[in-house]
Amino acid sequence: MIAAQAHNQEMELLERSQQLKTLSSLLDEAAEGTGRLVLVAGEAGVGKTALCRKFCDSVAERSTAMWGACDPLAAARPLGPLVDISTELGGEIPGLLREGVRDRIFEVTLHQLTERSKATIVVFEDVHWADDSTLDLLRFLARRIESAHVLLLVTYRDDQLDQTHPLRVVLGDLASAAAVRRLAIRRYHRRRFASWRPKAAWTLASSTAKLGEIPFTSRRS
Ligand SMILES: Nc1ncnc2c1ncn2[C@@H]1O[C@H](COP(=O)(O)OP(=O)(O)OP(=O)(O)O)[C@@H](O)[C@H]1O
Ligand SMILES: [Mg+2]
Repeated sequence: MIAAQAHNQEMELLERSQQLKTLSSLLDEAAEGTGRLVLVAGEAGVGKTALCRKFCDSVAERSTAMWGACDPLAAARPLGPLVDISTELGGEIPGLLREGVRDRIFEVTLHQLTERSKATIVVFEDVHWADDSTLDLLRFLARRIESAHVLLLVTYRDDQLDQTHPLRVVLGDLASAAAVRRLAIRRYHRRRFASWRPKAAWTLASSTAKLGEIPFTSRRS
C-alpha cells in the first residue's frame, strides 16, 4: 500500500470531467470482462495522480483499487509497483517475488488478476522510473489483460522521455495492443485562473479605487 491511496473525495478537480467519464466507461468495459490498460500521460505535476485518485474514489462502490509506484531511485526497485500490490494481489505472488522467479511471476500475476470477478483498478504510478522488469510486465499484461475484469492505469511524465528512454520503446510496442488506451492530461490552470479572476479583480478594483487609479476590472471586462 502506498500513500497515493489516501482518500480525497472532498478535493475539487478542475477540467477533468471528460477524463473521469472516459475512465468510467473503460471501467464498465473491464467490469464486463474486457480489461484495459490506460496510459495516463502528462508533464510533471499536471495532475495524473490526482485524477487517478479522484477516479478511484468516485467508483469505490463498484470496484476495488490497488496502488503501486515506481520511485526515482539510483537503482530502480525490481518490479516495484508489483511488490507494492503483492499482498493485496495475494496467492503465490509475495512468495514468488521473494524468490525472484520472473516468468512465473508474470503468469501468476495475470492469473490472480483474471481470477477476480469484481472490477479491479490497478494503478502503476510513474513508470518513467520503472525498472526493466516492470516495463516487461507492462508488455506482458498489455497483450493479455483483455481477459480480466481489470482496468490498469499506468501514469508517466511524458516530458521526461528523451529519445533513448526505455519507456519510449515500450510505448511503441504497446501501440498495437488492442487493450491499450491513451489518456493525455493537459494543464488545468486556464479555467482555474478564470474562476479565480472575479474575486481577485474585485479585490484589486477596491484597492486601486482607494488609490484613485483605474480599476483592473474595467480594462478586462
Ligand atoms: N484538475 C485539478 N484541479 C485542481 N488541482 C489539481 C488538479 N490536478 C492536480 N491538482 C493539484 O496539483 C498538484 C499536482 O498534482 P499531481 O500530484 O496529481 O500531479 P502529477 O501529474 O501526478 O505529478 P507528478 O508527475 O509529480 O507525479 C496536487 O496538489 C493536486 O492536488
Ligand atoms: Mg503523480
